[in-house]
Amino acid sequence: MAQERRRILIRGTGTVGYEFIRRLCLFTASGHPYFDWEEIIFDKRSPFEKNVPKIKQLQELIKEGVRPRLCTRKERVEEFKQIGLQPTYTLEEALERADVVFDATPSGGENKRLYETYAGDGRVFIAEGSEFKKKKQFGDIFVSGVNERAVLDNLQRGGQFFVVGSCNTHAIARNVLLIKKAFPSLPQEEIRIEATVLRRSDDPNKEQTTTSFSFSRFDEEYVEEGSYHAYNVLAAFRSVGDEGIKLRVTVAKLADPFMHCLLWKVTLPTRIPDARERFMEAVIADPFCSRTGYRQANIVYWESKEVKRFDVAPWLLRDRCYSHTIVCLPTVGTRVSDGKTVLEYCTFTPQDSNVILSNLEMACMAKNPDAFSTEEFHNLVAPLLEPREI
Ligand SMILES: NC(=O)c1ccc[n+]([C@@H]2O[C@H](COP(=O)([O-])OP(=O)(O)OC[C@H]3O[C@@H](n4cnc5c(N)ncnc54)[C@H](OP(=O)(O)O)[C@@H]3O)[C@@H](O)[C@H]2O)c1
Repeated sequence: MAQERRRILIRGTGTVGYEFIRRLCLFTASGHPYFDWEEIIFDKRSPFEKNVPKIKQLQELIKEGVRPRLCTRKERVEEFKQIGLQPTYTLEEALERADVVFDATPSGGENKRLYETYAGDGRVFIAEGSEFKKKKQFGDIFVSGVNERAVLDNLQRGGQFFVVGSCNTHAIARNVLLIKKAFPSLPQEEIRIEATVLRRSDDPNKEQTTTSFSFSRFDEEYVEEGSYHAYNVLAAFRSVGDEGIKLRVTVAKLADPFMHCLLWKVTLPTRIPDARERFMEAVIADPFCSRTGYRQANIVYWESKEVKRFDVAPWLLRDRCYSHTIVCLPTVGTRVSDGKTVLEYCTFTPQDSNVILSNLEMACMAKNPDAFSTEEFHNLVAPLLEPREI
């Protein structure tokens, strides 16, 4: 039995890092054994005055017990003090202390060399989404609901480097799961799944916004899969022995501040008259899938950020949509082409929140893989996913 890891360091307090730290602190206050961290440390790189209120809010989230502690690079400590923030540790001290390190910066891949110098004694390092490339891998991919079994096995065998799949990787994987569940009796290698991701170019909280549109260039690294998203989804399924999925994903980037949109075309091997109904049953049954009657990304974005439930404990307060994917109901339809049913529909991706629960799940798995149950974790966070109508 591996020793439990009890001290966590999260690097980066941006879109993903901040919300992850906030949720982790809230769950730690819940007292659930999956979250009984002895120490939570977070790393802030730049001593920006404008960030002070948010950092103070984080530090004050937990009134008793474990309080999140700030760290920064040694040479920055004095500058942080000047803006009224008191780092408890230098980054180097925090890296020495932590036995689980989350890199929620866009530089996970580059930071790996640093982490390797601390990797001697069973620490686990986790990076985010786009840091899982064919040629330059940070670690093995984790996509919630797909390959917990492979990640837990890996941890139990001493694996130390992992990547939590990106928001679109989660959305694509969830749609593959929906299609598998809707058509379980069809040979999956004969179902062709094609998706086009229309990516929003920036998060709405970013200072600079892109105003240009760009197609993804033909990516020679992903000739078969079309993009790293599909490569990552296939890698996650392959890690649990699921080899037969036929998936291709292409990408374009839009000057849109709202939500990623995905356009789906699923070609079934034969004519299935009730394909739409079967698909809708799978959508309704899936706890990680939301649905909306709105076609407009701005409305779905706005509604998904609304606080939707107040009747729960603070750590379960649903103040954004944590679902992996949101199916746009008015777009779901079928047609017949060459004697085969083609299912077409669109989805939205709750970009900056669908990976937060997966980060929490990955943290719990890394903390104590021997005591972790996927079912128990998913039941624990289930109230955060409700209601699923937008
Ligand atoms: N945004 C999303 O919705 C989303 C969804 C899924 C996955 N991801 C992935 O998550 C990662 C983080 O994305 P994000 O959108 O949260 O980024 P972000 O909002 O731009 O925030 C980046 C954070 O990382 C810090 N940082 C940047 N470079 C650093 C370095 N070299 N060393 C230490 N700290 C550094 C920044 O610190 P300072 O501000 O203090 O300089 C900032 O706090 C990326 O890999 C991204 O692909 C993002």
